[in-house]
Amino acid sequence: MSTPFEVCPYDAPLGAEIRGLDLSVALPQATIDALRDTWHDYLVLVFRDQTMNDEQQFAFTTQFGALEHTPQKLLELAREGRVDESAPQITVISNVIENGVALGRLGNSEALWHSDSNFAQVPPAASILRAVEVPSSGGNTGFMNMYQALALLPAALRGAIDERHTKHDPTFDSSGKRRPEYADVAHPAQGPGPIHPLIRTHPGSGKPVLYLGRRAGAYVMDMDLAQSELLLDAIWAQIIDADITWTHQWRAGDVLMWDNRCTMHRRDAFDGSVRRVMHRTQLAGDRPR
Ligand code: OGA
Ligand code: MN
Repeated sequence: MSTPFEVCPYDAPLGAEIRGLDLSVALPQATIDALRDTWHDYLVLVFRDQTMNDEQQFAFTTQFGALEHTPQKLLELAREGRVDESAPQITVISNVIENGVALGRLGNSEALWHSDSNFAQVPPAASILRAVEVPSSGGNTGFMNMYQALALLPAALRGAIDERHTKHDPTFDSSGKRRPEYADVAHPAQGPGPIHPLIRTHPGSGKPVLYLGRRAGAYVMDMDLAQSELLLDAIWAQIIDADITWTHQWRAGDVLMWDNRCTMHRRDAFDGSVRRVMHRTQLAGDRPR
């Protein structure tokens, strides 16, 4: 059987445009399975010229698995030590302020390299981001291939992190700002946040992948803080300017689905006087909670 869509890989370390699908309607199981395989190959899928509302975005997302809560909700649940079975809400990422109320988070500042909700015990497997309104320039989103990030580490560095774990502190958001609900702690080992291995096996591809989360607040367990900083700086120095990234230039109607387990992303700053509105859903991660 031929694939029910066209795959147009970018000339880049990751990313492919998928043509010939309308995501606002339910897709046959064979199409979902083929999309999942293509996603494991290219890490970020781009669907252009889509017309969908939030309900349809939730429906598209659930064809791949269970929905995840917003980051704010995940943080609140972690602080209160409880689970919540209510339906997840949409996450709005926007700089727009209407009648003094911010429509969403992240404003128009730069977002630093991160993977989403790394501060969760089980971070989301996928983020699905739909461009509702976008500026004509700026605010583009870059993605990094974390399989390739791991592969390019020199052997000594790779050896130094092999069995290591890092603490993923929720204190800093993706623009590097401190969340007001989190206080300074004396030592990151005592702070909040889960511990994840630095090298994980991706459950879909079976391949090893580097998992950093984000730089701010990261701490390598069982090291003194200065050593941990040196090790993390050495890793970031290797990957930050390497040829393992690709940047998406947004148009309204774009839907991106990225694998949050084997990519990191960042966003360029943009002119604050223009509107940018993005709606995001997320797929729950793989380990049972
Ligand atoms: C996100 C995010 C970047 C952007 O949705 O998780 O970091 O381009 N967004 O708005
Ligand atoms: Mn993000």
